[in-house]
Amino acid sequence: MPIFFLKSILSFFLIFLTLSAMFTMFEIFGRTEKKFNIEKLKKIHKINGRLYVLLYLVIAYLCLDFIVNTKAELSPRGAFHSVFAITIIILLLLKVSFIRIYRQFYNQAKTIGLLIALITFGMAGTSTGYYLIVTKFGTELFPTQKTVTEKMTVKDGIIVRTDPESIEKGKGLYDSKCYFCHDPHSTEWIVGPGHKNIMKNPILPVSKRPATPENIMEQIINPYKNMPSFSYMSKDEMLNLIAYLNTL
Ligand code: HEC
Repeated sequence: MPIFFLKSILSFFLIFLTLSAMFTMFEIFGRTEKKFNIEKLKKIHKINGRLYVLLYLVIAYLCLDFIVNTKAELSPRGAFHSVFAITIIILLLLKVSFIRIYRQFYNQAKTIGLLIALITFGMAGTSTGYYLIVTKFGTELFPTQKTVTEKMTVKDGIIVRTDPESIEKGKGLYDSKCYFCHDPHSTEWIVGPGHKNIMKNPILPVSKRPATPENIMEQIINPYKNMPSFSYMSKDEMLNLIAYLNTL
């Protein structure tokens, strides 16, 4: 299962917990005449909070693991998503400290709670929301295929390496940086297209540019659409990676 899909499912639970925490807070503090048992509501609110933190940590681990493994540069959307996530942790700590230690600020805890809820919606919207929209609610693969009539930037000719050592090194790079999103053994999509026969076919699957080593290199440095850029890779690494892709 692609990590983005898993994250989307988990974030639905996160949204549910957020709504439930808001509801319990409104019922506890918002009504003059109480409708429900306040002690029970407080208990639910507390359990809610703990589950939220747990789920948050699981999702954050998935995100960080992905970033560490792919060393992907964050897109503007990804940057917003992380700022929201970091803000939520700071607000949560602040809220707990107001309730447990700095009791004079107790009243502010409600406002902070609301802010956490609102920012949670922002955080989910910039990730799950986006993912669901571009995949038509998970029914289509990510992203939709498109043909393009863009000018090509063919660099100075690349000679493809064929020695086993370069191929082996390229495979290592591929497994650590590309494997999350690409299947090397088929043309099935994960997040991006499968890479079987990627350099044997005449054209690249998404951009429809000729499948030359130059265009593969171009894709790795200036990706055509939604793929992160790996422009930090050295020329040597790039050539090893292409050597491996050439064997698929
Ligand atoms: C975060 C997911 C992700 C990672 C990691 C990733 N890709 Fe992609 N890749 C994509 C997506 C999405 C596309 C579809 C085209 C696009 O958005 O540029 C794609 C398309 C491609 C294509 C086809 C481009 C075309 O013109 O049709 C190639 C080749 C490619 N990737 C190579 C790589 C290599 C090599 C790596 C590892 C260094 C890599 N990708 C890592 C998501 C990713």
